[in-house]
Amino acid sequence: MFMSCIRRKTVTGTLALSVFTAVLGSLQFGYNIGVINAPQKIIEQDYNATWVHRYGVPIPPGSLTSLWSLSVAIFSIGGMASSFCVGFVSEWLGRRKAMLVNNLFAFIGGGLMGMSKVCRSIEMMVLGRFIIGAYCGLASGLTPMYVGEIAPTSLRGALGTLHQLAIVTGILIAQVLGLEALLGSEDLWPVLLGVTVLPTVLQMVLLPFCPESPRFLYIVRCQERQAKHGLFRLTGRQDVGDILAEMKEEKRRMDMERKVSILELFRNHVYRQPIVIAILLQLSQQLSGINAIFYYSTSIFMKAGVQSPVYATIGAGVVNCAFTVVSLFLVERMGRRTLHMLGLAGMCVCAIVMTIALALSDSIPAFVSMLAIFGFVAFFEVGPGPIPWFFVAELFSQGPRPAAMAVAGFSNWTANFLVGMGFQYVADLCGPYVFLIFAVLLAFFLVFTFFRVPETRGKTFDQISANFGLELTTELENLNPPDFGGL
Ligand code: GLC
Repeated sequence: MFMSCIRRKTVTGTLALSVFTAVLGSLQFGYNIGVINAPQKIIEQDYNATWVHRYGVPIPPGSLTSLWSLSVAIFSIGGMASSFCVGFVSEWLGRRKAMLVNNLFAFIGGGLMGMSKVCRSIEMMVLGRFIIGAYCGLASGLTPMYVGEIAPTSLRGALGTLHQLAIVTGILIAQVLGLEALLGSEDLWPVLLGVTVLPTVLQMVLLPFCPESPRFLYIVRCQERQAKHGLFRLTGRQDVGDILAEMKEEKRRMDMERKVSILELFRNHVYRQPIVIAILLQLSQQLSGINAIFYYSTSIFMKAGVQSPVYATIGAGVVNCAFTVVSLFLVERMGRRTLHMLGLAGMCVCAIVMTIALALSDSIPAFVSMLAIFGFVAFFEVGPGPIPWFFVAELFSQGPRPAAMAVAGFSNWTANFLVGMGFQYVADLCGPYVFLIFAVLLAFFLVFTFFRVPETRGKTFDQISANFGLELTTELENLNPPDFGGL
């Protein structure tokens, strides 16, 4: 049914190829989130061997923990740093060339991690994680921006969800390849970390066959001929007058505005509400606690008394993928707002069930917490996983979009870093009640979405941003307080 619906809406070969090529970046993003979980103990042994080789004594346990935490967390710091540059890079090089150049980071990062064992260098591993994090930070902004800009309005949500589908596929591949019987072994872990360069090669081969975003070419670079050519290829139509007219209207508005800087996003009333929504949606994704599961699932399953925690983690990865596909089918039917709220509400209930099951683990069987965790992941992928990524690109027109993507990406990565670093400490403090914190946050984000987040399904970029302008005018006319977002 999905395929026939897609065919009706004419997904051309060029559009399919361009989206596939772009989301190879998302695949790497997911792979590098998931890859570090399973082989922890084995890589730590190598850190110890290097230490012994250098200093003649085993590594002190405190230093090992610090070095490991650094290797994990520096990935998000790389992401935070580079996501902030998404706006500048995508305007300077264009979307397509920016993706192409970003691959350099993947080569360097993957190479450093893959060679760190033979070079007996923990520093190479840490630096490699930072650089691959920087790659992922740029990819997490560039991919949804490019896909959002080349997708036809009626398929923007479904194609936007493919970014998340590629992320979760990457996580699952990393979880499976990370099994000790496959690449997660003492000898092969460098291959596990270095293999991330393979999708990079594929993306570099394919990108030259993908057109640059026509919206970027026309609205930002004023290259009408090239933009038209790209539209012909992407739509397969000879007459693209309607799309061009819509882009012309967006350009007309943009030409009337000053260039939108990050500061401007917060100063200007018209952008304030959408940027607050964009940031809160990203926070709702990360502060839902999803990465507490993806970074620490094995130990959570162990505490819950699950028999084979590693396989339960892979189970969570499978559920994660399956429900992203569900969202792909639903997002153009039910809309973004409804799905996001459904996801947040479901996660909140599962977090409460998980807390009860963990607190009463003596009397409640382990499979209850396992099901609650699977439910938590499933509801995440229905809405809070995929939607915030492409929603930001939808909320803004061409002018403010790059700056908005940078701010949103930075918020996402910062919250990701905080959860990654802080969860274990907070879990030690709160014991089985740690997920109640996420339940409260989820309830807050649910209320926020209900009152503040608009539906964008089926609307053009221009209609969406015009709506914000219109609401603002109405509010000002009604002499409501000037802080439009009320936040
Ligand atoms: C989203 C999040 C990412 C998380 C993943 C889990 O893409 O941005 O941090 O690990 O979903 O599926």
